[in-house]
Amino acid sequence: MDAAKNMFRAGLMEGERILVTGGGTGLGKEMAEAFLSLGATVYICGRRGPKLDETAAELTDKHGGKIVGIPCDIRSPDSIKEMVDTIWADGGALTGVVNNAAGNFISRTEDLSVNGFNAITDIVFRGTFYVTLDIGKRLIAEKKKASFLSILTTWVWNGSAFTVPSAMSKAGVNIMTQSLATEWGRYGLRFNAIAPGEFPTKGMSARLSPGGSNLTGGDSASSNPMGRVGQMHELTNLAVFLMGQGAEYVNGQTIAIDGAGYQAGGGNFYPSLSPLGDEEWGAIQAMIRGTNAKDKAERTAG
Ligand code: HXC
Repeated sequence: MDAAKNMFRAGLMEGERILVTGGGTGLGKEMAEAFLSLGATVYICGRRGPKLDETAAELTDKHGGKIVGIPCDIRSPDSIKEMVDTIWADGGALTGVVNNAAGNFISRTEDLSVNGFNAITDIVFRGTFYVTLDIGKRLIAEKKKASFLSILTTWVWNGSAFTVPSAMSKAGVNIMTQSLATEWGRYGLRFNAIAPGEFPTKGMSARLSPGGSNLTGGDSASSNPMGRVGQMHELTNLAVFLMGQGAEYVNGQTIAIDGAGYQAGGGNFYPSLSPLGDEEWGAIQAMIRGTNAKDKAERTAG
């Protein structure tokens, strides 16, 4: 994050130990950087080991401190257990978890297979719960307090045409946030979520706007009441506020940060994608599959 746009005092997060799932790229990387720059020890996980190493090296060069990349596929409870064992062995309990890892692509729902549905829901819905359950159990047993933050979207309130598995999954995580905020509040575990509007990242653009806005229609900046998309420091400042000490009574909340895009136009793909026909959807699918194949090659290479 641009230091001039950080709202917080240096060292605010010293002593914090935070895991950011999907922290090697995109929004996760931005939040990991913000926590690290304020003194937290940060763990990042993802499916691509080399990408995690690259991010950890880049951020340590920039800020010093300690950031560790651990390869983990959150669809696998065994992989999660192994990662969390490593983190605990490296310095004890976490004080914070950011459920950021996600998978998504635009598609007509009638074009989805069961595998396509599962590819998204296994990451976002089940994977997020598996991470929360594994870490939550350890914190309860050790009587340690922690803050959990999940990265959602405003679709949790109104659904989203053309990204139905993602909208369903994130809505489920929204309900997990509210449910565990009440059930586990007594253990000192608190649960909040952020519902960002558009904060462009490479992974998101490749799968939600492949080929640019010409193909998928709509210009999200000009249709937003503030005339622009989000800036990363705005998101990371909110994440630090929710993860840091001093706001512990905030519990069970999902906070939108979208320039009021949701109020103005629903904040989703309807109606911009509705007019697309078979030819356009074929082209979109080909581009998304190309990105998926490239990412997969990096995973197996790692
Ligand atoms: C239809 C598709 C498809 C497409 C994949 N599939 N792409 N179906 N249209 N465009 C189908 C495949 O055919 C296959 O089903 C099944 O999905 C699994 O495909 P894989 O490529 O093997 O999946 P996998 O390698 O597990 O990849 C998971 C993924 C991928 C979700 C598909 O996109 C991924 O890894 N994404 C991670 C990063 C990411 O998505 N970032 C963007 C997040 S943005 P069959 O039946 O053929 O076997 C986000 C924020 C949204 O979440 C909010 C914005 C405001």
